[in-house]
Amino acid sequence: MVVVGLIHHAPTPPYTSRQILEAAKDLGADTVYLRPIDLSIHVEETGEVRVLKRGRPLRLDALFVRGLLKPSSIEEAALSMDIVIVFEENGVLTINNSRGILTARDKLLSTIILRKKGIPVLPSVVSMSMAPLLRSLEEWGRGVIKPIIGSLGRGVIPVDNPDIAYSVIRQLFSWSQPVLLQKHVDKPGNRDLRVLVVNGEVVASYYRVAPHGGFKTNVSQGARVEGASDVDRDVLEAAIKSVDTLGLLYGGVDIIIARDGYYVLEVNSMPNWKGALEIGVNPAPILVRSVLELVKR
Ligand SMILES: Nc1ncnc2c1ncn2[C@@H]1O[C@H](COP(=O)(O)OP(=O)(O)O)[C@@H](O)[C@H]1O
Ligand SMILES: [Mg+2]
Repeated sequence: MVVVGLIHHAPTPPYTSRQILEAAKDLGADTVYLRPIDLSIHVEETGEVRVLKRGRPLRLDALFVRGLLKPSSIEEAALSMDIVIVFEENGVLTINNSRGILTARDKLLSTIILRKKGIPVLPSVVSMSMAPLLRSLEEWGRGVIKPIIGSLGRGVIPVDNPDIAYSVIRQLFSWSQPVLLQKHVDKPGNRDLRVLVVNGEVVASYYRVAPHGGFKTNVSQGARVEGASDVDRDVLEAAIKSVDTLGLLYGGVDIIIARDGYYVLEVNSMPNWKGALEIGVNPAPILVRSVLELVKR
């Protein structure tokens, strides 16, 4: 029997993870929920490298990576990825794989890679010093400050006032946080587009409309969801290409469709999909089915 694991740091699987596990069970696989805290990695005298769960051996064919450690040190951050890499070294299919996760979660690196592949992205600057950030803000008039690694819209701050920008950036520097500043672009209708791609195909696309007076369109920040069946094919193709370029089997792509064109904001390698459920699509069985096919090959 095929064994499908899912790793997340939470004590019990959050809803997206639960749906993946349920879909895997429905499709006839055995499932295991793993928390990094329960695992140990053993480099044996024989040269074998094993991962044990509470002292017991694990056998997995595929592993969904849904929530790594919330690192409080560089060592914890390294271990998070090491765990995924050990499974890969042992021949387990990881979804997404370590390289894709590492690239996608870094907003600077992924923006650079997407840009190099011809995907439209917004002008961005990253620095650990004030002057270049303030110069770009002055040039653009409006900008958006973001953590280089972040999600759910947390810490995403629109700025147009240089003094406010100065104070926010200073505070971030005092926490040893490098700052990503991006050019702000108007979102007509105060909405953006989320495209969910699985194995080279769009499985759901929907608009996320920011709450009244709000700026962020994350569903977790209260955005309203609307089906998007009118999206240009080139935008959907760009979403597919973005996921593929970052080395992901599946991903949630955030796209702003502005007056002068479209821009890919980011690709989420562990997307939540409440919005897809709201428009009547459950991506879990679609995702699990393609993974089971890859495992059987
Ligand atoms: N440059 C920008 N211009 C306009 N809106 C933006 C810009 N960057 C982010 N936003 C808004 O903020 C939301 C969160 O930003 P995003 O880069 O996707 O970070 P997160 O990983 O936290 O979701 C986006 O969905 C969008 O609505
Ligand atoms: Mg986002």
